Amino acid sequence: MKSIVILISGRGSNMQALLEARLPCRIAAVISNRADAKGLNIARARGIATAVVEHRDYADRNSFDAALADTIDTYQPDFVALAGFMRILTPDFVARYHGKLVNIHPSLLPAYSGLNTHARALHDGVKIHGCTVHFVTPDLDHGPIIIQAAVPVLYHDTEQSLAARVLHEEHRIYPQAVRWLCKGQIELSEDGRVIFQNRKQASFTMFSPGLE
Ligand code: GRF
Repeated sequence: MKSIVILISGRGSNMQALLEARLPCRIAAVISNRADAKGLNIARARGIATAVVEHRDYADRNSFDAALADTIDTYQPDFVALAGFMRILTPDFVARYHGKLVNIHPSLLPAYSGLNTHARALHDGVKIHGCTVHFVTPDLDHGPIIIQAAVPVLYHDTEQSLAARVLHEEHRIYPQAVRWLCKGQIELSEDGRVIFQNRKQASFTMFSPGLE
């Protein structure tokens, strides 16, 4: 059975979704760059091994990433899932886990990479927003896309209501992507494309606002 390590920085709701999804893999550990990450308690309560590599204890990104990689490697995972891990990773780190490192991002990439995605979507008046699971490459939030979920932006939306609608879908697509990975149903090709064994196609169009 494959195994994964999950990296978090905070609340850990995506991590929790992965823990609860009965994935066909072993969750070897949850690692955080912050000792006060709430998600660590959720993991501990479920008997999952946890570790903390405090980024503040390291002089620069390179030394932090090297220590993080050493900690990850003690668990020898097949895959590493970033779940609200709020550190920019160095190219060396990303290269070390090429094809094994995935991330969830709260926007329909390549739109709204970076932070404050929901506020920026509302500001721009887009009518469809969403979330993306992708392989991680050195190009922040621009790695090959595995799966996306789209949600409508509604007239009365606030940043909070839109975030909640997107988060609900994050909790659905991340376990799906990790399930595909662990079952060997997707992989990253040499030329940086996501290869699917069983291609499922979306089967409807969303209009937002709806047609009359
Ligand atoms: C999620 O919206 C995720 O997409 C983003 O950071 C947030 C983390 O939330 N990368 P949680 O810690 O998983 O609850």
